[in-house]
Amino acid sequence: MKPIRKAVLPVAGLGTRFLPATKCMPKEMLPVVDKPLIQYAIEEAYEAGIEAIMLVTGRGKNLMEDHFDHAVELEHTLEARGKLKELELVRQFPAPSKLMYTRQQAPLGLGHAIWCAREFVGTDPFAVILPDDLVKSDPGCLKQMMDAYAEVGGNIVAVTEVPRDQTNKYGILDVVEDDGRLASAKGLVEKPDPADAPSTLSIIGRYILQHDVFAHLDKKETGAGGEIQLTDAIAATLGDVPFHGLRYKGRRFDCGSKPGFVAANLAYALDREDLADDVRAEIADILG
Ligand code: G1P
Repeated sequence: MKPIRKAVLPVAGLGTRFLPATKCMPKEMLPVVDKPLIQYAIEEAYEAGIEAIMLVTGRGKNLMEDHFDHAVELEHTLEARGKLKELELVRQFPAPSKLMYTRQQAPLGLGHAIWCAREFVGTDPFAVILPDDLVKSDPGCLKQMMDAYAEVGGNIVAVTEVPRDQTNKYGILDVVEDDGRLASAKGLVEKPDPADAPSTLSIIGRYILQHDVFAHLDKKETGAGGEIQLTDAIAATLGDVPFHGLRYKGRRFDCGSKPGFVAANLAYALDREDLADDVRAEIADILG
């Protein structure tokens, strides 16, 4: 079994749900406490053993490239002021060639965004992280998936149960076998209406994939919402490539939604020794 050393992070979305904050700033740069979402995703990838990452970006996303580079003036000033802890924080970014960028030149869907990274992936298995889905867990969600991959190989997605009235927001598994941790499926449906959903087991933004998905993505077939769907590409490999949904341990925050984003900020702040007491006091005060 080939080890997984590459990850693709699609970050081309416009972030319209967070306007006006995202007018000039990529939504992936929104901070949860004091770290941008994209940095959580990259740290989760490295923790899982990933060595090279490709960000699939779009227009107006250049700030992310600046974030993962030297900020010469800032570093100089921090050094001169002896702020060594802060200096260390701004110097945490991957080396050249460990982090690469390509552009999705048209918003044709998640499957298309992944297809944009096909030359980077080549014939290797690879991971996908959607930075909007922040998973608070130790070890990280992708590391848990790597451990499952060592057991079963193939394609793996992270899954969680959702209320039936929300199946139209997710990729949903048509489950055949389920041991409570790993579920195998005979089908995958993107955003089915609750009445048509084969289950309530939904995909969250973590995938381990074999390069076989590109055979389907190459066809540029559109699916739900008129977009090229990654779910459909994975479904096309069922029967040829083992497929499992992993119920990860941890809590997922949908940081693409305002309640999820606010909840993530609270959860991460309440987990910080330097902040927890003050934040708890603030919350108590707000709640009266
Ligand atoms: C994408 C996928 C969907 C998955 C979801 C997880 O949808 O297409 O299958 O369940 O991410 O967040 P999106 O949220 O981009 O519409």
